[in-house]
Amino acid sequence: MKQIDRETVQRIIDTADIVEVVSDFVSLKRRGANYIGLCPFHNERTPSFSVSKSKGICKCFSCGKGGSPVNFIMEIEQVGYQEALRYLAKKYNIEIKEHEMSEAEKAEASQRESMLAANQFAMSHFESNLTDTPDGREIGLTYFRQRGINDAMIKRFHLGYAIEKSNKLYEAATKKGFKAETLVATGLCLKSERGTIYDRFKGRVIYPVFGVSGKVVAFGGRTLKSDKTVAKYVNSPESSIYRKSYELYGLYQAKQAIASKNKCILVEGYMDVISMHQSGVENVVASSGTSLTEGQIRLIHRFTENVTVIYDSDAAGVKASLRGIDLLLAEGLDVKVLSLPDGDDPDSYAQNHSATELEEYLSTHETDFIKFKTSVLLRDAGEDPMKRSRVISDILKSIAVIPNEVTRTIYIAECSRMLGVPEDVLMLQLAKFITERIENESNRQRQKAARESIADLEQSESATDTDAHTGATVDTIVPEYISATDTRLDKFEREIIRYVLKYGMVGFCSVEDGHTLSLLEYVKAELDAEDVSFSIPLYKKVFDTALTLTARNWNNDYSSFIASLDRAKAKMIEEGLDEIRSKAASVADVKALETALISRADEYYESSKADFTDEYIEKLLLSSPDDEMRRLTTDLVSEKYTLSKVHTKYTKIETERDRLIELVPRAIYALLDAILKVSIDDIEKQLNVTTDPAIITDLLQQYMEKQNIHRQFAKVLGERTITGKITRRF
Ligand code: CTP
Ligand code: MN
Repeated sequence: MKQIDRETVQRIIDTADIVEVVSDFVSLKRRGANYIGLCPFHNERTPSFSVSKSKGICKCFSCGKGGSPVNFIMEIEQVGYQEALRYLAKKYNIEIKEHEMSEAEKAEASQRESMLAANQFAMSHFESNLTDTPDGREIGLTYFRQRGINDAMIKRFHLGYAIEKSNKLYEAATKKGFKAETLVATGLCLKSERGTIYDRFKGRVIYPVFGVSGKVVAFGGRTLKSDKTVAKYVNSPESSIYRKSYELYGLYQAKQAIASKNKCILVEGYMDVISMHQSGVENVVASSGTSLTEGQIRLIHRFTENVTVIYDSDAAGVKASLRGIDLLLAEGLDVKVLSLPDGDDPDSYAQNHSATELEEYLSTHETDFIKFKTSVLLRDAGEDPMKRSRVISDILKSIAVIPNEVTRTIYIAECSRMLGVPEDVLMLQLAKFITERIENESNRQRQKAARESIADLEQSESATDTDAHTGATVDTIVPEYISATDTRLDKFEREIIRYVLKYGMVGFCSVEDGHTLSLLEYVKAELDAEDVSFSIPLYKKVFDTALTLTARNWNNDYSSFIASLDRAKAKMIEEGLDEIRSKAASVADVKALETALISRADEYYESSKADFTDEYIEKLLLSSPDDEMRRLTTDLVSEKYTLSKVHTKYTKIETERDRLIELVPRAIYALLDAILKVSIDDIEKQLNVTTDPAIITDLLQQYMEKQNIHRQFAKVLGERTITGKITRRF
C-alpha cells in the first residue's frame, strides 16, 4: 500500500474532530467542557473515558488508553498508522489519490488488512450477483421480495446472493489479485484435501456481518431449500478478524439509534433485525442464535444501559434465554423483556403490522425482567411447595448478580409481593447468594492469578484472607494478664463492635492533615495507641474483617454508588421536569414546582448517601460466609439503643447517631478501664497466694499504679455518664 503524502496527512489531522471520531464508538455525554463515556478499551460500569474537544484528545482515567483521533482509531480498530489515517480520510471525505495495488504492495499489507479487503470485495461480489445476474434476480432477489424486504433494506444491510457454483467467488477474487491463502483465512473459501479451493457459500442468500465500525468481518448464508438435510445457515468461521462472541449483527446500522433512544432491543436472527428496521425500529441487534456473551454485552453497554430482550413465544426459547439475561444484569444493565403474541417472531410481527402498530406494541408490552422471570417460573411451579421454593432461589440468584444495591432492593420488594414471602426472608437468602457469588468470583480470580503465576501477589492475597477469616492473632498485643478470652471484657468489646458494625464508615473526626477518619479507623487508631486489641476471638475476627474488606472495597463501591446515585438523581429531575411541564398551569406554578422538585432530589441524594455509608459494614458482614460473624452482626445491628426511646413531645429526639462523637470514645475508655480492672483483680489474687516479700512489694507497686489510673478513668467516665443523664432528663 502506498504511503499517504505529508500534506494529506496534515489535512486529515487538522480535520478530524475527536468528539466526532470517538462518538462513532462510544456514546458520549457532555460534562462541563469535556465529554465522558464508558471506556471502549476495558470493561467498566461507570464512565471514566474523557474526551476534550478543545485539546483534541481522549483518555481513559482508569486504563490510561486514548490519545489523538489517529491513536484512538489505531487502538480501537487494531490497525496501523496508515490505515487509521485512511479511516479518518474516508470519514471526512478527504481524497487520497490511490492507484491499483501492485503485487509487492499487496504482499506488504498486513494479513488482517488483506482479509478485510477480501471480505469487502466478497460483499460487493455477492451484492452484484443479487441484482446483476439472472440467478441472483430469479432466486435471491425473489426470495427477499417474498419475505417482504424492500430495496432500501437490501442496500442498507448489503444483502447478496452466492451463485450455486463451486468457485465463482474464488475465481473473481483471484482475478482481482486476492491470494488463495487470504480467501481461505477469512473462510470465504475452503481447501480440500487434494488441494483444490472452493467457495464456502453457494446457492445461498448472504447477510454480511459488520463490525461496530463498519468493516465486514463475516457472512451468514441462508439456504433457500426446504430440504431438512441442508444446513439452514452457513456462517464464516472465527478468524483473526472475526471473533463471534464480540460481534452483534446489526450493531453498525443500529448504534446511532441505540444511543439516541438510549435503548437496545435484542432479537435472535438476521431477518428480525432487518424487518424491524424496515418498520422504522432501528435500535435492534441480534445475537445470531447463540446465547449472549459478555463481550457482546459490553459492546451494547458502550451505547446504552437499557436492553429489551424480545422472546419468541415458545416456552423452550423463553427458558433458554433466561440464562443469558443474568449476564446482562451482572453487567449492570437495566433489562426489560417483551414477548410477542403466540406464533410470532419479531420478523413476522413487523411484516404483518404497520410501523405504528409495531411501535405501539413495543412500548406497551415491556415488563421488567425479574417480574417476567418470576411469573414464568411461578406458572410452571403451580402450587407445589418444593418447586416454589426452587423458583424463589432461582430468582434470588438472578437478583444477586445485579451490581447496584438500590436496584436489588427494589427487586426484592417487588418479588416479595409476587411470591408472598416477606422481604427480610428474601434479603437473608439473597445475602447468602451474594456471598456465594463473591466467593466463587474470588476463587476464580485466585485460580486465574495462580495460572498466570503471579506467585507473590497470590501469596499476599491468601495471607490476608486467612487472617480475616480465622482471626489468627498474629499481632495481638493483649496484656499477658488477660487470658485469651476473658468474659469479663465481653460486654465492653461487644459495645465497640456494635458501633463499628452500625456506623463504621461514618466520617468520625478529622486529623491534622485534613483527612477524615472513619469511625472504624478512629477505633483502630485508639486501640493501637493503647496497644490493646479484642480479646474475644469472634470480635477480633469481625473487627479485622471489617478493616480488610473496607480497605479493599470501599473506595470502589462508594464511587460506583455515587455514580449510580448521580444518574438516579438526574433521572428523577428529568422526569419530574417533564411531568411539571405537562401539568403545571402557570409560570409561577412551574417555578414553585421546580424548586420543590430540586430540593426533593437533593434530599433524596443526601439521605441515600448517608444510608449507604451507615449500612456499608453491616451489609458486608450480613452476607459474610462465616456463620458466627453473620449471626453476631444480625444480633448487634438489631439491638435498640435505649436513649433513642426516651422522647416526649417537648424534646427533639436525639439519636445514637447524633451522639457518636461522645459515645464512641466513652466506650473505648470503658474497655480500657475494664482491662485495668481485670488486671487489678488478678494482682489481688496473686497477692493472696504469694509469700515472697520481694514479689509482694512489686505487686503492690503495680497495684497502686493501676488503682490510680482506674480512678482517673472513673472520673472521665463519670463525667460522661452525667452528660448522658442530663440529656435524658429533658
Ligand atoms: N442461526 C445460525 N445457524 C443455524 C440456525 C440459526 O447461525 N443453523 C442463527 C442465524 O443468525 C439466525 C438466528 O440464528 O438468524 C436465528 O435462527 P432462526 O430463527 O432459525 O432463523 P431466522 O433468522 O429466523 O431465519 P428465517 O426467518 O429466514 O427462517
Ligand atoms: Mn425467522
